[in-house]
Amino acid sequence: MNTGIKDTIDKLKAGLDISDAELALLVRETGENYLRECADKVRRENYSDKVFLRGLIEFTNYCKNDCYYCGIRKSNIFSQRYRLSQEQILDCCKEGYELGFRTFVLQGGEDPYFTDDRICSIVSAIKKAYPDCAVTLSTGEKEYCSYKRFFEAGAERYLLRHETADPVHYRKLHPESLSLEHRKECLFNLKSIGYQVGSGFMVGSPFQTTSNIVEDLRFLQKLQPDMIGIGPFVAHSQTPFASCPNGSLALTLRLISILRLMFPYALIPSTTALGTIHPRGRELGLKAGANVVMPNLSPVDVRKKYELYDNKICTGEESAQCRSCLEARIVSAGYKAVTDRGDVVPH
Ligand code: SAM
Ligand code: FES
Repeated sequence: MNTGIKDTIDKLKAGLDISDAELALLVRETGENYLRECADKVRRENYSDKVFLRGLIEFTNYCKNDCYYCGIRKSNIFSQRYRLSQEQILDCCKEGYELGFRTFVLQGGEDPYFTDDRICSIVSAIKKAYPDCAVTLSTGEKEYCSYKRFFEAGAERYLLRHETADPVHYRKLHPESLSLEHRKECLFNLKSIGYQVGSGFMVGSPFQTTSNIVEDLRFLQKLQPDMIGIGPFVAHSQTPFASCPNGSLALTLRLISILRLMFPYALIPSTTALGTIHPRGRELGLKAGANVVMPNLSPVDVRKKYELYDNKICTGEESAQCRSCLEARIVSAGYKAVTDRGDVVPH
């Protein structure tokens, strides 16, 4: 590793800002061991060895959008569509609660069947049954008043990746009906309502350049999200990007470490996509600075249908039901799974 890279890493670790050129160098160059060691140190200073578990409930794979990268886009006529009833969602929470989960993440496509009333009813029912649990929503772009209603019903966290902060790149990934401007507006609305907000982007999405990634990091600095989710782009065979290469493991890990240094307080998941491109991807993500895992709590028969990309891992050891396997993996990486709501530390 050259001394320039080491100095740059030290500057980030000390909480100093670095130039775009330095950031780009860090994204491109390896310096891996030192970067990872620094990220792990910063993560332990803020969160010790804790890894927070979130139970992920993928409640609908209907979507009115047509993002070019996504396996459940509306034009994928081969997708077997499903939606869970409120009762099925509550059954997932019951099972999750018994397994020790204290955060439920409700994620889905933008499905018009789930009106604001229906979402509010689901959120209130979960909060009523499990007042000690946090409810996180990830249901895409809505208007301010909808977000406000969900918040008042008891949802306290919201995940909405910005996907890419560059409008030109955004247009290459999304059809005309979607706009980066609106996505960003949603994120700032969520913040102003009082949600703990998560954002992020795919690593190695088609046409992504190093300067796009630098812009993503700069956007996150402006937003100051509580949670930051990144994972490799993984191709889906029934999308326009079927033949694009997957995002790289090394770059995703490097970016997790950079994020940990830039956002010491952040909750950073080691994502399913990372576990999909490498058998030990999620453990490597934890070692690189991530501190959250989100095992799948959806009913087993729908898991394969929520297929954002090919070969998604969703049964066996990574499922919520196999908590002991998951805990063993977390311990093998040098950390400890904890059963609490796992709120962000003050920042
Ligand atoms: N509809 C909600 C939204 O737009 O935020 C939540 C569901 S969406 C499928 C969740 C995330 O999946 C997206 O933010 C995107 O980053 C990720 N995703 C979609 N397709 C992917 C792919 N092919 N590879 C990796 N991640 C993907
Ligand atoms: Fe809607 Fe992917 S296109 S969730």
